[in-house]
Amino acid sequence: MGNVTFIAPPFDVERVIKLEPRNCATLLALAREVPWPAHKTCGQGLCGACAVKVVYRDPARAAARVVLSAGEKTLLYRAGRLTDAEYRARDISVYPALWRLACQYVVEDEDILVFA
Ligand code: FES
Repeated sequence: MGNVTFIAPPFDVERVIKLEPRNCATLLALAREVPWPAHKTCGQGLCGACAVKVVYRDPARAAARVVLSAGEKTLLYRAGRLTDAEYRARDISVYPALWRLACQYVVEDEDILVFA
């Protein structure tokens, strides 16, 4: 069973959501269920306003999970969340990206920390 821990500035608000394996949802959908700063967002991978930092408690899992679509990569770059090198890399796993679009990230059975 996975755990998603939302941590929001000033980092004194923390909520832990324990996920059932069948509970496949995006990070944005989960964030809307807890007292966590949910910004005005498009929910469709178009605005980039939902960028969050995702830290895996198991680093080996991170290497397997960091696969960004071209659209997510472009929005994160425009939002200043990816470096030039990360943006230009064909395979983003060479430069493990911590930043993800919450609306595009479907949570699996994993333990992650999510920073606003
Ligand atoms: S909510 Fe707009 S890109 Fe995620």
